[in-house]
Amino acid sequence: MITSLILASALALVPTQVLAADNGLAITPQMGWNTWNKYGCNIDEQLILDAAKSIVSSGLKDYGYNYVIIDDCWQKNKREKNKELLPDPTKFPRGMKALVDDIHDMGLKVGIYSSAGTLTCGGHIASLGYEETDAKTWAKWGMDYLKYDNCYNQGQSGTPKLSYDRYKAMSDALNNTGRPILYSLCNWGEDGPWNFASTIANSWRMSGDIYDNFNRADPACPCETYDCLLPGFRCSVMNIINKAVAVGQKARSGGWNDLDMLEVGNGGMSHEEYRLHYTMWAALKSPLLLGNDVTNMTSETKEIIMNKEVIAVNQDSSYSPAVRMWVKGDQQMFSGNLANNTQVVILLNAGDKAAKMTATWDDIWFYSQPHVDASKSIEVRDLWKKQSLGNFTDRISLDVPAHGVRMIKFMDSAQSS
Ligand code: GAL
Repeated sequence: MITSLILASALALVPTQVLAADNGLAITPQMGWNTWNKYGCNIDEQLILDAAKSIVSSGLKDYGYNYVIIDDCWQKNKREKNKELLPDPTKFPRGMKALVDDIHDMGLKVGIYSSAGTLTCGGHIASLGYEETDAKTWAKWGMDYLKYDNCYNQGQSGTPKLSYDRYKAMSDALNNTGRPILYSLCNWGEDGPWNFASTIANSWRMSGDIYDNFNRADPACPCETYDCLLPGFRCSVMNIINKAVAVGQKARSGGWNDLDMLEVGNGGMSHEEYRLHYTMWAALKSPLLLGNDVTNMTSETKEIIMNKEVIAVNQDSSYSPAVRMWVKGDQQMFSGNLANNTQVVILLNAGDKAAKMTATWDDIWFYSQPHVDASKSIEVRDLWKKQSLGNFTDRISLDVPAHGVRMIKFMDSAQSS
């Protein structure tokens, strides 16, 4: 009896063994809302509470957006005597725990931000060398998510091993708290996180920062391919898509390529462009983190971010990112396996004029063995029009708007024997 009591209490002291990519989190890409794209450093408790309330009242929560993430600029710029971080008392007068409790009471989860450097990108105190202390503090506040940036890293990057070690320190510290905390690594694709992060993190940014623009080439974002040295910032939607396709196959359940937070609703793109942006983030299995003002949304914004069928592609249990099957000038075609022998296909037209685009069964099922038979008649559903387009055989041709997409689902691609 005594022995079993001792054993039971000893076991209770052993922290639950959770490993970042294997911590049971982000089985499908995480969804939520983040302060940065819309508000930058202008954040405070009231703004975050108002957003959380709107995520519930607008119904966004029911669509799956359940993480409320506080990005940079929440910190007080001095550690306490015991080395703990505190929030800026003017922005968060009740401290973090009270805010987190309020958001938890709404049935939502909460995320926080820091950098694997001496300072964050906004110049605030960060966590390099303080991993254990900070992870414990966040766990104490009830945090469910950490976005972990790359600024001021003291030269501890440049090889995958240096980056891995620096990010693993926080992964271990989070796991040591025993609290499941989704670990979202944000090193902008430096040193190829798709190769080194999948055993330590739930997602990793694969590009420099997005900005609210469809395809403008900007010198601040010099990389056009994923393997370039200066990830930069002000990366357009098309720039990020063209980099993401190359690393798509590195994603897996529990570890996702993060294409950065969404800009839908922030005003810099047309409705078609935002639809394309959201479609590709969903199909390439990026986390879907809203970055707009959720307290005041137009019906056009809601139409995009509240489309159940598109969200279902992102959250599908096949966990496979769509693959780019071809590029012809401004046109691209993507095909992705979904559960139950269904298939998503995207016809993307980055050109300035509407175009008719055609995808053949051979294009779509190029990698399936055997190919789906060209004579097979398959029902096709339009996921944005939310209606069936009828049955098709061998190929499908559709009009695709300028800077736009058609996102369709093949309802039965089982190969007949
Ligand atoms: C960048 C990061 C952004 C945002 C910003 C905050 O490095 O990519 O998403 O977090 O820092 O300063």
